[in-house]
Amino acid sequence: MKHTWERAARVALAAVLTAGASASAQDRSAVEEIEKYRAALGDGNPAELWEARGEALWKEKAGPRNASLEKCDLGLGPGVVRGAYAQLPRYFADTDMVQDLESRLVTCRVTLQGLTPEEARKNPFGSTGKKVVNDALVAFITSESRDVKMNVSTAHPKEQAAYELGREIFFYRGGPYDFACATCHGVDNVRIRLQDLPNLTRQNDAQRAYTTWPAYRVSQGEVRTFQWRLEDCFRQQRFPHLKFTSEASIALTMFLAKNANGAPFNAPAIKR
Ligand code: HEC
Repeated sequence: MKHTWERAARVALAAVLTAGASASAQDRSAVEEIEKYRAALGDGNPAELWEARGEALWKEKAGPRNASLEKCDLGLGPGVVRGAYAQLPRYFADTDMVQDLESRLVTCRVTLQGLTPEEARKNPFGSTGKKVVNDALVAFITSESRDVKMNVSTAHPKEQAAYELGREIFFYRGGPYDFACATCHGVDNVRIRLQDLPNLTRQNDAQRAYTTWPAYRVSQGEVRTFQWRLEDCFRQQRFPHLKFTSEASIALTMFLAKNANGAPFNAPAIKR
């Protein structure tokens, strides 16, 4: 029964994928070209503009309380930004919740600046001509963990529960094609339209993938956050919309962040 299922999923996947395990030499060289292009762009990353804007927003007084975010506790104490992202998501006693960076920023904008949760969650992703607060703050804060080793803990029972929920979601199959994250990201050497798909069940692939988000996406001219990445993969999976800062999004982030432990964080990066 299980095998028939797996075969069906493989056939469905093959319909979406243009190349499988037996990628031709020509495809390989195209992938190497993309890598070279990435390396060349890496010297000057437009994400720096988002980082600078985010730092200004962090320090700027805003909201009904006319306060900055400089007292926001990202886990290492009020106002400590350096290295904070490398330990997120984590359990926060004041909210009695496991939070990732973006849900924590919502908490800080509500408690410090006096925004409503709805206002703080509005417009999390930028688009052409539309600058938003969230992705700039995320670019700034994540940049302050560059070269810091990922060190996500599951010592607290709620952290452990979030990790396990994340793993369950990762392997959960559903939707019109019966896909799970694992369908596309649980096998080696799979590609869609020349994009190598990381096998996120392998430590080094998980490390490389997680530590390179957020990223400036050349094709979109935008900095994209990890929440955006998850949202876009829910779309790839033909799943319903992933609610921004939902428990599911935090749990998936927990699962992938913890699997990246030990690797130096290296973002905002640059991607095609
Ligand atoms: C139908 C196939 C498919 C499914 C299902 C899928 N993804 Fe993806 N995923 C992709 C593709 C394609 C990319 C690369 C997109 C690109 O580079 O433009 C990607 C990229 C990613 C990345 C970034 C990798 C990197 O190195 O930058 C992460 C993380 C990720 N997916 C996580 C997930 C999670 C978590 C799920 C389940 C909710 C999921 N994906 C479901 C196709 C899929």
